[in-house]
Amino acid sequence: MDAYQQLASTVNISNKNNRLLSYDDSLTLIGTGRSAYVFRIKESDQAIKIFFPEFRHIAKEETEIYLKLKGISYFPRIYAFGENYIVMDYIQGRTLFECVNDGVAIKESHVREIDYALELAAGRGLNPSDIHLRNLFITTNDEVKLIDVARFNQTKNCSQWDDLKYVYHRFYSKRMFPKKIPTVILNTFAYFYRKPIITKAFNMAKTK
Ligand SMILES: Nc1ncnc2c1ncn2[C@@H]1O[C@H](COP(=O)(O)OP(=O)(O)OP(=O)(O)O)[C@@H](O)[C@H]1O
Ligand SMILES: [Mg+2]
Repeated sequence: MDAYQQLASTVNISNKNNRLLSYDDSLTLIGTGRSAYVFRIKESDQAIKIFFPEFRHIAKEETEIYLKLKGISYFPRIYAFGENYIVMDYIQGRTLFECVNDGVAIKESHVREIDYALELAAGRGLNPSDIHLRNLFITTNDEVKLIDVARFNQTKNCSQWDDLKYVYHRFYSKRMFPKKIPTVILNTFAYFYRKPIITKAFNMAKTK
């Protein structure tokens, strides 16, 4: 068993409700998604994403997509992967969700760079999907980084990034619009965004 595999095996996730039960002292929990827990490997620049038992197959799928993106600096590099984990660059900074939460301004140039990163991914034959605030970072060096590429292979069109850009230009970028928004409001917005009626309203607003 190699060192990463050994580390991954210390992460104990309940089969019943995906609750995180225990993990090695050399790991720091840095994020939780709908399919995985993500840890920083202490005293390193690497992060390890450990998938919930029912989503372990995504480790291989997501790694394959990251490998297609190899060399594009907007995406983390991959160091290793296994049955239920991926080891990648640890990104030091804030997700866009945290930026909005903490009142850190998201600039027009950041939005353009994300657009460019997505274009580069499309240029590699991928279909960028699931582009939401928690999957986009602004690093401490003011660079843009994108993570969580598992759905970049899907054929269905995903309008999330277009919708976010619409909200950015129509509301967020206006001088009077609050730049700091509490988690509860952001989560409420995210909850309603998943409702078909809101998707319809978005599509109508965007065509106006
Ligand atoms: N390489 C990284 N460096 C720093 N933080 C990270 C990294 N990867 C993930 N994170 C943090 O962990 C969170 C969850 O990671 P990720 O989006 O990969 O999980 P997921 O289960 O696939 O998410 P989703 O719910 O979007 O499907 C991210 O929103 C982010 O805050
Ligand atoms: Mg995510």
